[in-house]
Amino acid sequence: MYSERIRLASLHDKVMSAAEAASLIKDGMTVGMSGFACAGDAKAVPFALVERTSHEPLSISLITGASIGNGLDKLMAEAGLLARRMPFQADPALRKAINEGKVMFIDQHLSETVEQMRSNQLKRPDVTVVEAVAITEDGHIVPTASVGNSANLALFADQVIVEISLRYGTNLEGLHDIYIPPERPERSPIPLVRPDQRIGATAIPIDPAKIAAIVISEYSDSPSNVLPPDGETQAIADHLIGFFANEVEAGRLPRNLGPLQVGVGSIANAVMAGLVDAPFENLSMYSEVLQDSTFELFDAGKLDFASGSSIVLSAARGTQVFGDFERYKERLVLRPQEISNHPEVARRLGIIGINTALEFDLYGNVNSTHVGGTRMMNGIGGSGDFARNAQLAIFVTKSIAKDGAISSVVPMVSHVDHTEHDVDILVTEQGLADLRGLAPRERARAIIDNCVHPEYRAALEDYFARACERGGQTPHVLEEALSWHINQERRGHMLTTA
Ligand code: COA
Repeated sequence: MYSERIRLASLHDKVMSAAEAASLIKDGMTVGMSGFACAGDAKAVPFALVERTSHEPLSISLITGASIGNGLDKLMAEAGLLARRMPFQADPALRKAINEGKVMFIDQHLSETVEQMRSNQLKRPDVTVVEAVAITEDGHIVPTASVGNSANLALFADQVIVEISLRYGTNLEGLHDIYIPPERPERSPIPLVRPDQRIGATAIPIDPAKIAAIVISEYSDSPSNVLPPDGETQAIADHLIGFFANEVEAGRLPRNLGPLQVGVGSIANAVMAGLVDAPFENLSMYSEVLQDSTFELFDAGKLDFASGSSIVLSAARGTQVFGDFERYKERLVLRPQEISNHPEVARRLGIIGINTALEFDLYGNVNSTHVGGTRMMNGIGGSGDFARNAQLAIFVTKSIAKDGAISSVVPMVSHVDHTEHDVDILVTEQGLADLRGLAPRERARAIIDNCVHPEYRAALEDYFARACERGGQTPHVLEEALSWHINQERRGHMLTTA
């Protein structure tokens, strides 16, 4: 039975129902699960865990690669199953539980989680659940549409549950490149000097004796819900493409730009899609999430190779790509997220990192995570891994949110994820501020002139002028610095004049 999917015959008697497998997970355990940006997540077992909460006390610490789909974070949060959750999420119901203090959320750079586990700074999982297309003759696990933290979570766990997904074909085997850094002090450089290199194994090399259960799963990944480009995201893409063209012209970037990293979400996807009509050829990606735009660029003949940690597609794109996978497979690789996001590799390859901000301030500090300085949105994800180590750290956002009640360009950010030291280029639909080599007062000038929405420009100009009268390397009117956020909270608009 399923001998093509479970090629180590001695594991055949481990096949059981999701409920039986889920019974290995006990109250209070630390549980690892596969899943990165709604791709390749464990599904059958977490559904079974949610079911158990209706008749027994059950609460776990859950560690994944990043966000998971099928409404599972919502179901688990609402069932009270999650005591602790890390390192990323993107679900409104879980977000609510986090902001109410019911779930302890540890918002981490995505490259760091398993590194902390390797050095025993973070508790290792008691049980890890990994979605797979197959188990090899050696008992190694072939993941589905993401690698994320799956390899290390499985290697570090006492017991492993494998969910064999019948939704993905076994032709995904060969897509993954599983490289596990040796422990310190024997650590050597990661031997990756090009995005298209393979440096590891095609399956997760665990001891098959750890596989305690195998569940056959018919669940699908959730499709991504990125919105198509609109006028503003198109304008952001156009500003960025104009900037790249100038950089090529000036000899600061090669014609193929160099490896691109692009964050999650509609804005980032639109920016990448904008490259379809841009005059750059032989592009490559060294990124984390590969979205629809990656495949648009392949189809347009613009992209040579894409390295990521997960493939997250809209429903229509997903059907097309996985239905015709051989067309793309040789030009794709999925890596563990500690490698796709590794500071050493990002710096060596000289990547261009394009991520999305919620807001940024006069001096270029970026908030990607906290609305109004206190309420978690999703998490920092991989943006910090890339921004600090990229050749060019670019942040994009629309200049206003909530119909103009919020300016994304503010006197002082209400929370800092990326300090001014990590930010080179800021782009809104209004324009692009190139902050490289500028002192704080010059940065402020570039940001006011290029990025702020006209409705907010005079107010920001006035703030900056009064701040400069007080002096300082980074001038502020401290008692007013967060007044826009306070206005928004109290009056529903950042400006008192509105
Ligand atoms: N204050 C409050 N809310 C804001 C805001 C601000 N300054 N700027 C945007 N928003 C709201 C939008 O109104 C929108 O709300 P809605 O969901 O109710 O419509 C929401 O934030 C998302 O904004 P949107 O403009 O649609 O952008 P997005 O889908 O591209 O997401 C982030 C933007 C910042 C939330 C998202 O990119 C993120 O989580 N980033 C951090 C992680 C990361 O960068 N990972 C990258 C490596 S993969």
